[in-house]
Amino acid sequence: MQNSRRVGGIALKCEVFLKTFSVYKKIVRPILFCFDSEKVHRFVFWLLKIFQNKLPKASLQITKQYPLGRILLKNPIGLAAGFDKNAEILPALESFGFGFLEIGTVTPRPQPGNPKPRLFRIADKEALLNRMGFNNDGADEILARLKAAKTKVRIPIGVNIGKNKDTPDSSAKEDYRVLLEKFAQTADYFVVNVSSPNTPGLRDLQNKNFLESLGLLIQQMRISPEVFLKLGPDLSKETLEDICTLCKDQKFFSGLVLTNTIPTDLGGISGKPLYGPSLHTLKAARKILDKNIPIISVGGIFSKEDVQERLNEGASAVQIYSSLIYEGPELVRDLIR
Ligand code: FNR
Repeated sequence: MQNSRRVGGIALKCEVFLKTFSVYKKIVRPILFCFDSEKVHRFVFWLLKIFQNKLPKASLQITKQYPLGRILLKNPIGLAAGFDKNAEILPALESFGFGFLEIGTVTPRPQPGNPKPRLFRIADKEALLNRMGFNNDGADEILARLKAAKTKVRIPIGVNIGKNKDTPDSSAKEDYRVLLEKFAQTADYFVVNVSSPNTPGLRDLQNKNFLESLGLLIQQMRISPEVFLKLGPDLSKETLEDICTLCKDQKFFSGLVLTNTIPTDLGGISGKPLYGPSLHTLKAARKILDKNIPIISVGGIFSKEDVQERLNEGASAVQIYSSLIYEGPELVRDLIR
């Protein structure tokens, strides 16, 4: 106990030191950026796994609560899907100060994802290009890890779900059903991902017919966690309107996560280039959806001003990923303050 308090004290002092001297941007980042992006990601995970139970919890003075549907957040800054796909370092991520976390994308069966290299920095644009392809340990292993993490982590944890690569679109609904059933007792919320560009056919599921039949199934299942839908930044006005109707009139989905990465032939682009498309999609959806339908805004959020803008435009909460890589973990507490 005393030992862990001492480690906590040291960690806190380190944080102040790191921030005061911009150690991440001036020293850590230039070193990390010399190496392959995915290898760095694994290395950082390895380090955080060792220390995660000793890191101090964020002690921020927050009085307000932010509703995300039925969930109450202590702060509206969340971690986007894809960072901790396998629920490996949730206590460490809580200690960064996040108000909520999202694991996944989880598929029913484990799968290796696309061949490496598959994650690239576009440093001059403060962007990332990824074609990971839902590499993950599969529902059973991730569920066991999530259950264990929930005994330590106090903030809400969402589960982002998707279909396996070898599941044809015609059977995709069954993959989502299996995942909703497995995680229903453990997830604080779900995100149905139909917008990642790296699984063949997945983005075609962003259509009214499929989502209507999936929505009906979800209603019949009567699961208690809220179910959000994650969409891409490039939908036509008509498709976005159709999908918003499924939330507004039919109440099939609790809300939206806007948006996933920009699809290109080489993979999905995130970070600063996504700022405009993501903001545009938020504004378009909010025109149709009343304030009581939650929207999580994600894409190109790097500063307090960006967060404020998304909240002003009707986002209930925001998520970040790329800015964490470019600005370092201190960013989370900066954004909250
Ligand atoms: C992602 N993202 C993502 N989204 C998702 O729904 N499921 C996933 O498995 C992944 N995987 C993933 C891997 C990598 C390496 C990146 C960079 C991104 C998309 C992510 O959740 C988010 O929507 C975008 O990255 C946009 O936010 P930022 O990065 O601009 O803050």
